[in-house]
Amino acid sequence: MSKLLVTGRRKLSGEVYVQGAKNSALPVLAATILTKGENVIFNCPDLSDIDASVGILRYLGCSVSRSGGAMLINAEGINKSDIPDELMRKTRSSIVFLGAILARTGRARMSFPGGCEIGPRPIDLHLKALRQMGADIREKHGYLDCTAPNGLKGTKITLSFPSVGATEDVMIAACFARGITTITNAAREPEICDLADFMNKCGAKISGAGEGVIVIEGVTSLNSASHSIIPDRIVASTLLACAAVTNSKILLDGIVCSHLASVIPVFEEAGCKIRCTTGKLEISAPERLRAMKTVRTMPYPGFPTDAQAPVLAAACVADGTTVFVENIFENRYRHTGELVRMGANIKTVGKVAVVEGVNALYGASVEAADLRGAAALVVAGLCAESQTVISGVKYLQRGYENFELTLSALGADIKKI
Ligand code: UD1
Repeated sequence: MSKLLVTGRRKLSGEVYVQGAKNSALPVLAATILTKGENVIFNCPDLSDIDASVGILRYLGCSVSRSGGAMLINAEGINKSDIPDELMRKTRSSIVFLGAILARTGRARMSFPGGCEIGPRPIDLHLKALRQMGADIREKHGYLDCTAPNGLKGTKITLSFPSVGATEDVMIAACFARGITTITNAAREPEICDLADFMNKCGAKISGAGEGVIVIEGVTSLNSASHSIIPDRIVASTLLACAAVTNSKILLDGIVCSHLASVIPVFEEAGCKIRCTTGKLEISAPERLRAMKTVRTMPYPGFPTDAQAPVLAAACVADGTTVFVENIFENRYRHTGELVRMGANIKTVGKVAVVEGVNALYGASVEAADLRGAAALVVAGLCAESQTVISGVKYLQRGYENFELTLSALGADIKKI
């Protein structure tokens, strides 16, 4: 099992192209199940979570290949409607295939996703909505057995929480439902807009994506499309944290600044200077970061839960105390114990973490327990005195494409061992 060896205190400089968004690519791949012909998906990141989705598409009967920077997917050969347990377990987001398989084949069988590293991942909102659309769903022995022999029907769905996954699942399923589906209290993340853009290019009739109410008029077939995945705002946020803790100036390229509207002010509070131009963002960090105002994770357009861990790592070396309130997931402070091993001063109680900045972190042997926690340890390692050895690198590979190479190119001393 490989580890990362980081020798801290190297300044970063230069320009970095930000990869395509994992959380956008995953639902887009699932949505291709409804299409006829070959889809060409550009800017699809090369990650283990994406490989897991490709494994599911191939199992179902799709042809999938990579050509240059593009992913080619043809779903015409689909001949199965189940996902085996071992494929389901590879990525928790595989639940987004439920609505797609059900809409395409009239049935779907898959294991229950269960809990994961960052806490329970319930799917009650997905199931309730699909049932409202006429699906018969039985939950037995850890499996979901879903049928809609006469197809799904459009209806009015109100989500009790703007779940990203449930909004995507319903949006995809509703494209083949009879009549109109309205999703109220829908998630507003940029990844929802990207999914709608892709599906509308294929001939879907989705309006309101990015707003609280999404309206989907069902169609009977979808064509294929060429589509470029939006840049990954969480990878961008992580790179900002890397620059911030190393007092560096770097330029992020290929990004959408408006997607970072809740993240940029947090770095500005810490004393960083940020300049946005079309598709680019330059960050210039001070010699010592300042504490930030309370950081509360919220559904978009609020501060993203996925950026909490890397930003918290930056707060560890800021001057003063920063309070974090994690409102989205229950178990999202597992990186804090490892940061404390590196000399951080953090107290967590329930959803609150109080980070009292220290003058310096020092290298240690630490272990990542989840994807964004792994990113936080990299951020900490970059500014720590001496060497940090990070195990649990497989988590990082779920969401960050060759992250050590990206950082090395900026001047960091980081390598896989
Ligand atoms: C997606 C992202 C993930 C991000 C999260 C929140 C993908 C592949 N993953 O995850 O990186 O951290 O959004 O921005 O896009 N919930 C329920 N019942 C449900 C569904 C969700 O109670 O049926 C709860 C969850 O437990 C959690 C909250 O709603 O507390 C948010 O979950 P959700 O928005 O669904 O996150 P995901 O789509 O799983």
